[in-house]
Amino acid sequence: MKIAFFSTKPYDKLFFELENELYGFHLNFYETHLGPHIVNAIEDEKVVCVFVNDKLNRQVIEVLAQKGVQLIALRCAGFNNVDLLAAKEFGIQVCRVPAYSPEAVAEHTMAMLLTLNRKTHKAYNRVREQNFALNGLLGFNLHQKKIGVIGTGKIGRAFIKIALGFGAEVIAYDLYPDSQVKEMGIRYESLENLFGESDIISLHCPLTPYNHYLINKNTLDKMKDGVTIINTSRGNLINTNDAIRALKERKIGLLGIDVYEQEEKLFFKDLSTTIIEDETIQLLMSYPNVLVTAHQAFFTKEALTEISQRTLKSISDLVNTGSTDLEVLL
Ligand code: NAI
Repeated sequence: MKIAFFSTKPYDKLFFELENELYGFHLNFYETHLGPHIVNAIEDEKVVCVFVNDKLNRQVIEVLAQKGVQLIALRCAGFNNVDLLAAKEFGIQVCRVPAYSPEAVAEHTMAMLLTLNRKTHKAYNRVREQNFALNGLLGFNLHQKKIGVIGTGKIGRAFIKIALGFGAEVIAYDLYPDSQVKEMGIRYESLENLFGESDIISLHCPLTPYNHYLINKNTLDKMKDGVTIINTSRGNLINTNDAIRALKERKIGLLGIDVYEQEEKLFFKDLSTTIIEDETIQLLMSYPNVLVTAHQAFFTKEALTEISQRTLKSISDLVNTGSTDLEVLL
């Protein structure tokens, strides 16, 4: 059976080909993202395997169905880029990898927080220039700071454990408070209170139609002056222009983003020899108190191994038996 992979990078090929020794599927790797420009290239592949920035809107899904595609396999956890209603309408199943090392994302979240706060990226460059001065490198203790975690699923819980290890006080908000989290001594708060009380806010909820621009001018106004915000979830949870305004007004003291509203035009590409036309990201990257990483929070050996294992297992199960013990969205 043939599987078409989109948005493929060398590391995807490496991990999937290794895992495919168990299955013997015919894997076709396309570097381009899946969209109207390429969808007609699909010939006799029954499965398409896509990643975070492949846009599977109604138009694309309709053509996939005409081409005989039976399954959309997301090799990621988020699925906001797939029109699930259209997939249902055209009878295409959708599966994802709901958990592939939540620790990878949680650890990167803490890495971003530590980098921004203790300025190790600046210290690294300074020392290489034989500049051993400390001016401008002042940070703050995480110990006894209040960290507000929005979304206490797998990644949120893993991050809470790390934050507790630093001696921080953690409060949380989730649509569905979790008993495991409560047992860790974490207090659930209303969003309003979390915004008002937190020194640091970390986003770990999915992007849904209900929380688009969760961080916007109104919610930023409720936060402490100098608040630190880390987003390793999805770009559209933050209104970037409002965040820039808040950075200028010193409302946001530190901002770490691994995801960005317009990331599909930028992330996962080497644009080092081109002129980037997105002036918003250029502005953000110019701020000394902003750290941008390019959707790399998941990027560990353990996570890539799990992604390839779970994706091929789901595909094999669904194509051969029609069901799987792994999560299917449709
Ligand atoms: P999960 O499904 O285990 O947990 C999500 C939690 O968010 C659930 O407890 C849910 O009740 C809660 N939630 C849903 N809507 C909410 C809302 N409006 N407000 C507050 N809480 C809400 O998901 P998991 O595995 O923890 O992943 C979270 C997100 O992290 C994913 O949806 C994805 O967007 C992002 N992610 C980012 C990666 C990266 O490399 N930067 C990699 C993997 C996931």
